[in-house]
Amino acid sequence: MTDVIKTADREGVRIITIDNAPVNAISAAVRTGLLAATKAADADPAVKAIVVTGAGRAFIAGADIREFGKPPAVGVPTLRDNIAALEACSKTVVAAINGAAAGGGLEIALGCHYRVAHPKAVLGLPEVNLGTIPGATGTQRLPRAVGIEAALDMIVNGVLIPAAKCPPGLADEVAEDVVGNAVALALAKPVRRLSKDDSKLAAAKAKPALFDEYRKGMARRFRGFTAPYKCVEAVELSVKFPYAEAVAKEREIFTWCQGQPEARGMRHVFFSEREVARVPSIAKDVKPRELKSAGVIGCGTMGGGIAMNFANAGMSVTVIETDTAALEKGLGLIRKNYAGTVEKGRLSQAEMDKRMGLIKGSTSYDDLKTPDIVIEAVFENLDLKKQIFGKLDRVAKPGAVLATNTSTLDVDAIAAATGRPQDVVGTHFFSPANVMKLLENVRGARTSDETAQTAMELARRINKVGVMVGVCDGFVGNRMLYAYSRQASFLVEEGAAPEQVDKAIYDFGFPMGPFQMSDLAGLDVGYMVRMERKERAPTNRRYANAVADRLYELGRYGQKNGKGWYLYDAQRNRSADPAVAALIEQVSKEQCRPRRAIGADEIVERCMYALVNEGAKILDEGIAARPLDIDMIWIFGYGFPRYRGGPMFWADEVGLPKLLERLEHYWKTADRDWLEPAPLLRKLVKDGKTFRDWAAKV
Ligand code: 3HC
Ligand code: NAI
Repeated sequence: MTDVIKTADREGVRIITIDNAPVNAISAAVRTGLLAATKAADADPAVKAIVVTGAGRAFIAGADIREFGKPPAVGVPTLRDNIAALEACSKTVVAAINGAAAGGGLEIALGCHYRVAHPKAVLGLPEVNLGTIPGATGTQRLPRAVGIEAALDMIVNGVLIPAAKCPPGLADEVAEDVVGNAVALALAKPVRRLSKDDSKLAAAKAKPALFDEYRKGMARRFRGFTAPYKCVEAVELSVKFPYAEAVAKEREIFTWCQGQPEARGMRHVFFSEREVARVPSIAKDVKPRELKSAGVIGCGTMGGGIAMNFANAGMSVTVIETDTAALEKGLGLIRKNYAGTVEKGRLSQAEMDKRMGLIKGSTSYDDLKTPDIVIEAVFENLDLKKQIFGKLDRVAKPGAVLATNTSTLDVDAIAAATGRPQDVVGTHFFSPANVMKLLENVRGARTSDETAQTAMELARRINKVGVMVGVCDGFVGNRMLYAYSRQASFLVEEGAAPEQVDKAIYDFGFPMGPFQMSDLAGLDVGYMVRMERKERAPTNRRYANAVADRLYELGRYGQKNGKGWYLYDAQRNRSADPAVAALIEQVSKEQCRPRRAIGADEIVERCMYALVNEGAKILDEGIAARPLDIDMIWIFGYGFPRYRGGPMFWADEVGLPKLLERLEHYWKTADRDWLEPAPLLRKLVKDGKTFRDWAAKV
C-alpha cells in the first residue's frame, strides 16, 4: 500500500487505516491509496468484511484544504469515487471513527455501511466555515441518516458534535474500542446503503415549506454570507430529486461556492487562525512560562471581564481595587454577569459558584506575591500606571509576567517603571473582555521571548485569538480604527448623514457603523480619551472630531442618556435627529466646506481604503509582522466581515492597483491631510505584487 494507507487483517476483516499526519486530510495520495485498498479488499475472497479507520488523533479531517483553489490533480480519483467505491462494496464496510470525522471525513463514514464512534470523537460537516457546502454527497447522505432537520442544523451551523450528542442514525455504536467493535459489527451485519434509503426524507417531503421557514430563521446570524444558504439549497435537493440527480446538483453548487470570494476569504481565516499563534519574532524553541494563577489590578469594566476569563479557564485569580467599596462594586458586577448567563440557561448555578469561588478580592498589593501573571487594568493614565508597575515590581514574584491592558499608552514607558522590563508585556483585551475573542498582545522593546510566548499561551488558555504586535500609538487595531473613523467623520462634514455612513458600513458587513459604535461606547468616553491624548492641540492637519466634541458639549453622550449621534427611545431603538443634522450643517459652514451628495461607494472606499492604507504603514514599520495578523485583529476585535477574510486579504481581492488609484483620487480631491497612499502600497503596485506576496517573504 502507499505510505498514507496501511492495511491489516483481523478475524478475516480487512482494516484500512488512513495515516496522513497530522489529521488524515484526504490528499491526492490518500484518495489513490484508499481506492486501491477498497477495491483490493472487496475482490479478495479471504476478506469477509472491511473496516476503515484513521491513525493518530483524527479519523479524517476532510478534503485537504491546501489543495483547494489549485487545479485538480489529473488522473487521481476524487473523494466521490472513494465514497462510491466504499458503498458499492459487496462486503459490509464499517467506519471506526477514532477521532474527528469532519467534512469529507464524515462523508466517507456515511459512505460506509455502518459507523462506530469513539466517545471522544467529534463528527460534523463544517464546510460552511470554509465558505462552501459539503461537496462529496454529504448534503444527500446526512439527511438520509439523521433526517432533514437535524441535517440542516449540522450542515448550516458547521459544528463538530461529540459522538454521544450526535442525532440518532449517525453513529450505530459509541465505544472505546472503535476498531474492535467495528470488526464485530462488520462480521455481524449485512450490507446497507444510505443512498438507497429514503425513509428519513418522508416527513420533509410532506412538508416542503420547512426549508423556507428554516431560511427565515437564518437571516440575522448569516447576514452577508452565501454558503449557509447554499447549504439549505443543497439539502433541499434531497427531497426534490432522486439521489443521483441531487448529487450531481450538489456538485454544481459546491463548485460554484469554491469559486466565490467568500470561500477564499474563509479559507484564509481558517489557516490564519492557526498561523497567527506562530509569532515570527519568537524563536521556535521558546517555551511559555507556567500559568497557574493570576492577578488583576482594577476591577472596572475591563478588569472584571479579564478576571472572568481566568475563572472560566479554571484558574484562580486575585483582583485588587483601591478600597472595599470599589471592590464590592466590581465583584458585584462579575456576579451579575454570571447570574445573567445562568438565567439564560447557558451556565449551571454550580458552575457559576465554582467560578466565583476562583475569584478572590483584595485591597492589598501583598496578595500579588504568588500569581504567575498580573494584568493591570486601571484608568488610562500613564503616571498612575507607572506608579502601579513600580509597586508591582516590589511585590510580584521573580518570573511573574507583568501585563498592562492599556489601549493607547506606551508599553515601553510602563516597563521602564520596573526593574524587570523583560517581564512586561501588553495584553490588550477588547470590551466586553469576557466575550470578545481578540487578545492583542503588545511586545515592548525589551519584552523577552519567553514573556511574549507566555502572553500568546495566555490567549490559548482563555480561548482567545492572540495576535502579537509592536508598540505604537493605538497599537494595530485602534491605530487603524482612527484612520477609518476619521474618514467617517470627514464624510459627515462633507455632506453625508451619519445614518448613511452607518448603513454603508453595515451593508459592507460590519455589525454596526462608526456612529452607532460611538453612541454605544459613549461620546463622553471618546471625548475623555481625546483630552488625555491632547488631540485638540493645534495641529496643521484637519481635525476629525469637530462634530463629536460639540455633541459631547451639548450633553449628548450616546445610548447611555438616550441621545448622541442618534436619538434613542426607552427600548434603545434609534432614529435620526434633525438637531444633529442641523449641528452638522453648522459645522460644515464654519469650516467653509460645501456640502455635496455622497454615495455608499465613496463611503465604503474612503473608510475601508484608509483602513488598509494604515495597515500598509503598520506592516512597513514592522508593528504587525504579517498581513494575516492584521486580518485576525480586525475580524476578532472589530467585527470586520469574516467572509471577506480581513482588510488586508480583502485589499488583495479588490486589487491593489484599483485601491491605490481610488485612494490617490480621494487624497487629491477630498483629504490632502490624511489619505496619502502608503509607500508600501505604492511599491507593491509598482512591482505588480500583493500583500500576500509580501507576506511570503516574512
Ligand atoms: N486540510 C488540510 N489541513 C488541515 C485540515 C484539512 N482538512 N484540517 C486541519 N488541517 C491542518 C491545520 O491547518 C493544522 O495545520 P498546522 O499545524 O500547520 O497549523 C493541522 O492540520 C492541525 O489542525 P488543528 O490544529 O485544527 O488540529 P486539532 O486537532 O485541534 O483539530 C480538526 C482537528 C477538528 C479536524 C480541525 O483541524 C478541523 O476542524 N479541521 C478542518 C475540518 C474541515 O473543515 N473539513 C472540511 C474540509 S472541506 C471538505 O471536506 C470538502 C468536501 O465536502 C468535498
Ligand atoms: P474603569 O474605569 O471601568 O475601571 C478602572 C478601575 O480601576 C476602577 O474600578 C478603579 O477603581 C480601579 N483603580 C484605579 N486605580 C487603581 C489602583 N491604584 N489600584 C487598583 N485599582 C485601581 O476602566 P476600564 O474601562 O476598565 O479601563 C481600564 C483599562 O483598560 C484602561 O487602561 C483602558 O484604556 C483599557 N481598556 C479599556 C477598554 C474599554 O472598552 N473600556 C478596552 C480596552 C482597554
